Amino acid sequence: MAALARMMPPPYKVKVVEPIALRSEHDRRAALDAAGYNTFLLRSEDVFIDLLTDSGTGALSQEQRAAMELGDEAYAGSRSFFRLEQAMRDVYGYRHVIPTHQGRGAEHLLAKLLVTPGALVPSNLYFTTSRAHVELAGGTWVDVAIATATDPESEHPFKGDVDLAKLEHVLDAAAERVAYVRVEACVNMAGGQPFSLANLMGVRALTQRYSVPLILDATRLSENAVFVKDREPGAEERSLPEIIRVMTSMSDGAIFSSKKDHFVPIGGLLALNDDALAERAREEVVIYEGFPHYGGLAGHDLEALAQGIREAADEAFVRHYVGQSAFLGGLLREAGVPIVLPIGAHAVFLDAKRFLPHVPQEQFPAQALAAALYLAGGVRSMERGIVSGQHGSEPYDGLELVRLTLPRRVYTEEHLRYVAEVVVALYARRAQIGGLRMTYAPEVLRFFQARFEPRAPLLARTRAPAHA
Ligand code: F0G
Repeated sequence: MAALARMMPPPYKVKVVEPIALRSEHDRRAALDAAGYNTFLLRSEDVFIDLLTDSGTGALSQEQRAAMELGDEAYAGSRSFFRLEQAMRDVYGYRHVIPTHQGRGAEHLLAKLLVTPGALVPSNLYFTTSRAHVELAGGTWVDVAIATATDPESEHPFKGDVDLAKLEHVLDAAAERVAYVRVEACVNMAGGQPFSLANLMGVRALTQRYSVPLILDATRLSENAVFVKDREPGAEERSLPEIIRVMTSMSDGAIFSSKKDHFVPIGGLLALNDDALAERAREEVVIYEGFPHYGGLAGHDLEALAQGIREAADEAFVRHYVGQSAFLGGLLREAGVPIVLPIGAHAVFLDAKRFLPHVPQEQFPAQALAAALYLAGGVRSMERGIVSGQHGSEPYDGLELVRLTLPRRVYTEEHLRYVAEVVVALYARRAQIGGLRMTYAPEVLRFFQARFEPRAPLLARTRAPAHA
């Protein structure tokens, strides 16, 4: 995967612009101090290039904006709901759809429906909110990802695969306790890594043998489908919509955070095939989100979502997006910056353990690197290491990553080149990045609002580089 010297131009052009500006170094340092060295606590006006997340940050298409004018705000029986339902059936093939305010709303409903105290949920790694909802319902998360999923240097093309032997072992020992098997597309915590069709087929065979539901976290299914098309023997002749349908047809349902592949600022979906389960989901959604025909969304949101679902199966958009990650990752790799390989779907992940080998994990290397990246160039990224990965007081020696996440249809090649230059220059100064001390930690999902202070001033120009 050599770096691409240039990218194909995007399959869209810009119609509306949002001004951005690079603050002075003095102002960035003040903003970082005020944010407790946590990039989540920065104000967006202080950020130049915002690579915090691909969630809700994509650009709407003109077709989505036009569709919003048709939003039917009826409380019940809204036309917009039925357009959404049709789009779901056409693209993904699920019989029932329950809209929610965002992905975690769907995760909450799913946990209410299927997870009882003592239940198990085997999954290919985890996502923070997915796991939190299972645990709040009294369930236990069981990691059944292949071991290479957490090896940032392995170039395995399908690090999102499930270890079928591990899954079989869990099912064999306690199938009656397994609430459902969760398979995430483009596993976020592994660096945006896909599963293969062959592996999903294996998972499907096991869940059928043990009569356990298979639920997809289909949040980034489009990108997973492009990787399947490009990397899996036999898939290259299939169209993107076809691959998507093959994947969904192997599951009993799915949750989606529509803020990613569906290009909307807000929205989520719970999709199910089972009539009785969907009936129960409609009872739950009324309590937590709203009437089943809007689920916490406005009619115009449902319209943008219905159109976004159709665009999610448009190969030109998805391929260009995955190409942006490959381009940025290629520039970094060429310069010798340690990143997770293969380059994932929605982001390039810096490997903070190799970027900052002098910072021990208890001093939050990925958090420190994310802070330094903001200070160096106004680029906002996200920690995916011990701060977000450690669970209670359980020991953590897992991945220590910084995620440079690309919003869909937003930044240009010039922006990506700028980001690469900032990261490469920072890598040359890496000895000037020390560890952090945590000064405040919330009880749940601490990464969102934890605060830190540097053990020594970040990027102080006076210290001689020890690792030049
Ligand atoms: N599942 C996955 C795989 C996700 O990446 C996310 C959100 C969710 C579920 C929850 O969806 O945010 O709509 O409630 N990921 C965002 C991110 C927050 O930045 O990766 P949500």
